[in-house]
Amino acid sequence: MYRHSATPRPYTTVVLAMSTDGKIADVARSPARFSSKSDRTHLETQIALADGVLFGASTLRAYGTTLGISNPQLLQLRQQGGVPPQPIQIVCSGSANLDPQMRFFCQQVPRWLLTTTAGATHWQKEQASDAGSFDRILVADTSTGGIDWNHAFQELFQLGVGRLAILGGGELVAALLAADLIDEFWLTVCPLILGGRTAPTPVEGEGFLSTLARSLELLSVQTIEQEVFLHYRLQRS
Ligand SMILES: NC(=O)c1ccc[n+]([C@@H]2O[C@H](COP(=O)([O-])OP(=O)(O)OC[C@H]3O[C@@H](n4cnc5c(N)ncnc54)[C@H](OP(=O)(O)O)[C@@H]3O)[C@@H](O)[C@H]2O)c1
Repeated sequence: MYRHSATPRPYTTVVLAMSTDGKIADVARSPARFSSKSDRTHLETQIALADGVLFGASTLRAYGTTLGISNPQLLQLRQQGGVPPQPIQIVCSGSANLDPQMRFFCQQVPRWLLTTTAGATHWQKEQASDAGSFDRILVADTSTGGIDWNHAFQELFQLGVGRLAILGGGELVAALLAADLIDEFWLTVCPLILGGRTAPTPVEGEGFLSTLARSLELLSVQTIEQEVFLHYRLQRS
């Protein structure tokens, strides 16, 4: 948990794999399946530490599924910790323009949607004719029709999400960085070059001028075979 201006919110950790040239997917925005088995184990371990995982709608559209916990040791650790076997899978989508036939809706995981009033209305109409469903729909509007992140994170915390893993993509991470809602980054540098002007990177959005760039503190570096696992904490004054 993180207390900012006396407002409790989930403690957040971004977990991403990127190519050596800093891309999280290729120019076709294909699912990022370029990391090793060690990285997938690392990702599952981070997910197992969380009460909820948050990802952008484009990430879900790219993969069609989410990563649940299947490792028996991680499941046992969660049981010993008195938490449900699977963290809540939270999709963020302003439009809620999601295909209810995606395999995601058949996975044995709790599913929440974080959206706007317009998105919630759209989804309820969509659902009337199709199978996909969310266990909970959270609405947090800004006056301009976007997502009010501070409000959304307060509500997540009140609903029991003390630790939140953020699984991308770059647009979501940019929005959360701009709202100063990120505490840590795990970045896995993988040995390949993807290139491409429009291939997504860990942080999209408008970007920060270097004078306003967010600073990181390096917590650890680990090399496993050809990959480098970097763990950073956001510096706050
Ligand atoms: N290498 C990795 O570890 C990794 C991990 C995850 C994803 N990826 C890749 O990253 C790519 C997707 O990343 P992306 O940057 O294009 O998209 P993204 O962040 O996954 O999703 C963007 C979408 O999420 C919703 N969203 C995000 N921020 C929002 C905000 N502030 N307000 C309202 N809605 C918001 C919007 O959905 P609506 O359009 O529905 O409103 C937006 O279009 C895919 O190619 C995927 O393969 C790679």
